[in-house]
Amino acid sequence: MKALILSGGSGTRLRPLTYSQQKQLIPVANRPVLFYAIEDVIEAGAEEIGIILGPNKEQVMETVRSVDWPVPIRFIYQGEPKGLAHTILVAEDFLDEDFVMYLGDNILRDGIVNHEKRFRATNSSASVLLTPVDDPQRFGVADLNPDGSIRRLVEKPKEPPSNFALVGVYFFTPSIIQACKSITPSWRNELEITDAIQWLIEHGYKVDASFVEGWWKDTGKPEDIFDANRLILDDIDGRCEGEVEESRILGRVVMEKGARIIRSVVKGPCIIGERSTISDSYIGPYTSIGIGCRISGTEIEDSIVMDESSILNAGKVVESLIGRNVRIRECDSLPRGSRLIVGDNSDISL
Ligand code: DAU
Repeated sequence: MKALILSGGSGTRLRPLTYSQQKQLIPVANRPVLFYAIEDVIEAGAEEIGIILGPNKEQVMETVRSVDWPVPIRFIYQGEPKGLAHTILVAEDFLDEDFVMYLGDNILRDGIVNHEKRFRATNSSASVLLTPVDDPQRFGVADLNPDGSIRRLVEKPKEPPSNFALVGVYFFTPSIIQACKSITPSWRNELEITDAIQWLIEHGYKVDASFVEGWWKDTGKPEDIFDANRLILDDIDGRCEGEVEESRILGRVVMEKGARIIRSVVKGPCIIGERSTISDSYIGPYTSIGIGCRISGTEIEDSIVMDESSILNAGKVVESLIGRNVRIRECDSLPRGSRLIVGDNSDISL
């Protein structure tokens, strides 16, 4: 089996972070979201991985190449995001056998091994993963027949036929290529994978549905990234490769090499990245601090701070997503007030 992982698209719902960074590279528990997808397809037996690239292609290639993966990885440039089915057409030459397509901004707690086994066992032309959700309007939705087979798939319906959302993992035989060639762009001018799967159903191909049991997150919006960060941190084991001075460490805390905690209280689950220094601060549960950060005189919890950022005497910071190389500090000169140099589409609560 091969794997096609999608790491293109423009990530509009995560601006301003996605102006400078591809959304699949945003870290959850200090690892790019994309790495969870790569690990899952390898665990499920993928022998070669194709990664679809969009506008920030160099960044994705560099990040993926920073790890020595056990299977070959090929990069496939899509350019402008013209839809999930369009990525299959762009990758047509690569997709000469059965494959799993995995959206690079999705995380599944239990991976996809059982779903891959079911795809094989049912001898289907395609298999989609489903899970019940409270807000089906945000997703592709499946309308099921009484026997559990799929009657119809609809993309982000105003009036959902069920609450079974399509999870961003799909198993296909190469028959999907003909389906993608046979459909036309939707109202939003994208070639929709739901339309291609619908084409398979209407042309007599067997399309199976496999239900996801553990949690699943599509990290398309900041709230979803916080949720994913909490869920991953809930499962970590604490370990300390750094130094602790005059501080209290409570619960499961990961301290990477060269991390330092000085005169502070750190309450897990949380993770402090390599070479980061925490001093005179409180780091609360569900916080991920990246590499080379400096936090001083600040209380922070339920947040993600990306590499090389500093937060100095900033009071209390909660539920925040802080990008790379950001400086946040108290205003210590006159006139007093908030001094902000903030990019387009930022979101600040003071
Ligand atoms: O997460 C599950 C949902 O993913 C499904 O329920 C929907 O049926 C499916 O259409 C998709 O909806 P999204 O609105 O989340 O799709 P998004 O545009 O965010 O794209 C999903 C991923 O694929 C994301 O990592 C970006 C990448 N992508 C997207 C497009 C449209 C590409 O690489 N190229 C593209 O052309």
